Amino acid sequence: MKKKRFETAVIHEGYDEKVLLGSLSTPIFQTSTYTFDSAEQGERRFAGEEEGYMYSRLGNPTVTVLEKRIAALEGGERGLAFSSGMAAVSAILVALTKANDHILASEGLYGCTFGLLTMMKEKYNIDHDFSSMATKEDIKALIKPNTACIYIETPINPTMKLIDLELVAEVAKEYDIPVVVDNTFSSPYLQRPLELGCDVVLHSATKYIGGHGDVIAGLVVGKKEFLDDVQMTTQKDMGGVMPPFDAWLLIRGLKTLPLRMDRHCINAEKVFEKLKNHEKVTNVYYPGDSSHPDYLIKQKQMKHGGGLISFEIKGSKQDAQNFLNKLSFIKLAVSLGDTETLIEHPATMTHAVVPEDERVNMGISDQLIRLSVGLEAWGDIWEDIEQALNKK
Ligand SMILES: Cc1ncc(COP(=O)(O)O)c(C=O)c1O
Repeated sequence: MKKKRFETAVIHEGYDEKVLLGSLSTPIFQTSTYTFDSAEQGERRFAGEEEGYMYSRLGNPTVTVLEKRIAALEGGERGLAFSSGMAAVSAILVALTKANDHILASEGLYGCTFGLLTMMKEKYNIDHDFSSMATKEDIKALIKPNTACIYIETPINPTMKLIDLELVAEVAKEYDIPVVVDNTFSSPYLQRPLELGCDVVLHSATKYIGGHGDVIAGLVVGKKEFLDDVQMTTQKDMGGVMPPFDAWLLIRGLKTLPLRMDRHCINAEKVFEKLKNHEKVTNVYYPGDSSHPDYLIKQKQMKHGGGLISFEIKGSKQDAQNFLNKLSFIKLAVSLGDTETLIEHPATMTHAVVPEDERVNMGISDQLIRLSVGLEAWGDIWEDIEQALNKK
């Protein structure tokens, strides 16, 4: 059959109801194990000689539908689902490295990914460097003989800096180093790193892919050979698999991803315009801003600017916290990509584990606020922010 367009693939890809009694909604296979017709069949399945399910840590039919769907949306050979975004990040990084290796990472990462890199360094002497990756020379300068992978977030959480994925992929090919991209902030609707030459793309599916704040999950897409290996090593043996009900929630959430993303982006553009003109706001960071230093990269690799904005409040950390305490319906919570507008203080919340000097180097000041613009009427979102900014 002809390749489906994105808006069709989010609804149909990877599921055939005809083999499942015509059920329109993907059934939830709430089972831990699967019976074999014979001892010989069990042997063949465990030997990898016959396709079929064996035990839900090694695969589950509901989860398989989601894995096929996300693979199609990211344009990769296969998908693999995890119990959380961090289960996905850790399974991939552990699969790609061995003791004494080196990881080159983007300057700015989600706090727990930073924590994982620190732990890998302390426990296994897997060192890392951070790079702005602004030019080929920047990247080449930090590649070492033992560099096992390049790990990138773009847009970077929460500074909203961007990295040119095509440029990084070109350099990485020269050195034969795999490039892993955390695509959580964009979702495959806005950005598809594999199409730009990167090797592995992963998500905290907790965010835009789920979209409704009711599930913790991770997804990875890449080459079949690599992810077959991850499934049978760091996923099977560390065990961070996705439960079938969570897969069902994500299958449902994905169906409206394009609609939700369009609305997140439109709302964010409106709120950004208002924020940048408010006297209590000193800096606003939004990839859709035509004066953003990385705007050309956004134009090249992202469909729209996304639903996340970071901004700095005039004054001190206390002023930033006072602002947060005065909001009315906007929810003070970490996470992002939900229907509800969520707001947080990275320095003391999502990035609290990052030592202060590193945090400042990444561009996370005490006055920085991260806003995940939801699906409410943008006028209501702005009015709530405005009243909180204006209150004495
Ligand atoms: C960019 C990014 N990557 C990974 C994660 C980790 O995902 P999870 O919380 O689903 O484990 C997060 C969580 O906030 C994130 O923002």
